[in-house]
Amino acid sequence: MPANTCGFTVIGHRGACGHAPENTLLSIDTAIRLGAHYVEIDVQHHDGELWLMHDLTLDRTTNGKGLLTAHTAAALRRLDAGGGEIIPTLPEALDLIEQRVGVNIELKSWNGCAAAVAAVLRDYIADGWPAERFLVSSFHLPELWEFKQLLPEVPLGVLYCGVPLDWAGIATELGAVALNISAEFVDPRLIADAHARGLQLNVYTVNAPEELQQLRALGVDGVFTDYPERALALG
Ligand code: G3P
Ligand code: MG
Repeated sequence: MPANTCGFTVIGHRGACGHAPENTLLSIDTAIRLGAHYVEIDVQHHDGELWLMHDLTLDRTTNGKGLLTAHTAAALRRLDAGGGEIIPTLPEALDLIEQRVGVNIELKSWNGCAAAVAAVLRDYIADGWPAERFLVSSFHLPELWEFKQLLPEVPLGVLYCGVPLDWAGIATELGAVALNISAEFVDPRLIADAHARGLQLNVYTVNAPEELQQLRALGVDGVFTDYPERALALG
């Protein structure tokens, strides 16, 4: 995950979901227009496609009901993900992004998601996308491990909600470049320790300007935010 010239990586969370329905093409486009350096998207594998969807169920973010996996790809295609937006697939998102920003793909399902994402990224890399423009992350570390075996040239980010005792050993074993952790677990010793190990430390999900300012001053490398312009306004 290359450092940005401003030294602070602004990662649009689920696109720019403070402005547009999350994980839609509109949300991704908004994040890019606002100047985010990366967009983060949640991806689930089902019925031969990689869907941009955070929840296991459709109810919160679409006009569908029940488990995503209870629907066929054709039925998912017909759903409204907010404001008339479709639930996009990973290739549709990548075709929109066109290498303009980095892409953090969060593996959200454990049913062949790693293999399916690796197959898609392999094609895009063969077409000229630099592998370093991607960052693949997951809370589900075995899925990340599987991904690493399939496409080792793509950088990995270890996602932690809390901080496990062996956080560094896990990151080292996976060869991760980044630790992506929940904001409430940030502390200066962790930042210093991550940096000493050559790991970037990114924090989710931070929207309040004063918290963004505070984290930047503490020395975190990047933030996931629903409002990229607020982080960018820090200069
Ligand atoms: O990848 C950072 C963040 O997106 C992880 O949490 O629940 O928003 O996917 P969540
Ligand atoms: Mg996510």
